[in-house]
Amino acid sequence: MNDKQLVALQAAKYVENGMLVGLGTGSTANYFIEELARRQREEGLKITTVASSTISTQHAQSLHLPIIALEHISSIDLYVDGADEITADMTLLKGRGSDLVKEKLLAKAATQFIAVADESKLVSHIGQNFAIPIEVIPFAWQLAKKSLESVGGQGDLRPNAAKDGFWITSHGSYVLDMKFDIDIDANTLNELINNTPGTVEHGIFFGLTDAVFIAANGAVSERWA
Ligand code: A5P
Repeated sequence: MNDKQLVALQAAKYVENGMLVGLGTGSTANYFIEELARRQREEGLKITTVASSTISTQHAQSLHLPIIALEHISSIDLYVDGADEITADMTLLKGRGSDLVKEKLLAKAATQFIAVADESKLVSHIGQNFAIPIEVIPFAWQLAKKSLESVGGQGDLRPNAAKDGFWITSHGSYVLDMKFDIDIDANTLNELINNTPGTVEHGIFFGLTDAVFIAANGAVSERWA
């Protein structure tokens, strides 16, 4: 069993009968979805799920997990998702994929949000390995970029895979991938980007995580806020 699978299985132990469970997106979240399906099949676990993306919806449906749409919920019991970067104070960077908006909605709506990852995701500061993905309304991209540049951001629109156009998220936004001075802490950056007109959402998950589970060399460590 690899570390991503191991940490996903550990998070799945926190799922109990009757819960409404948020499903993340990515390879680690996929292991979590598969473990929920196994527990449903083999242990009779009774849960309802809500997914952060179309791909996770499809995965959950193919495994016969009961699933409801995001617009039908006002809160959830538990959300489990991966991350692209995790700092010691449990701030996350997410959104390398296309599903940032739903991911942050579920993280906020959850009574408990557990981030799950292998140790490759641990960083000393947000933005260490990736630019900050900032989803913007398409017609606002240039004005939003200028605002972000005025607070020290550098970057550009994310190209699509064929490099003949721009990346479109599942919410229909463009993405500005922006790098900032490493002296700006994640809390300040979170506020600065939140206050940028034209921004739909961004990849810094500040103050949302209740626990971080990290797997390294076949062992999982849990850190609770
Ligand atoms: C999806 O938008 C991201 O936030 C993922 O949660 C992140 O990329 C983690 O992916 P893996 O679990 O595949 O590493």
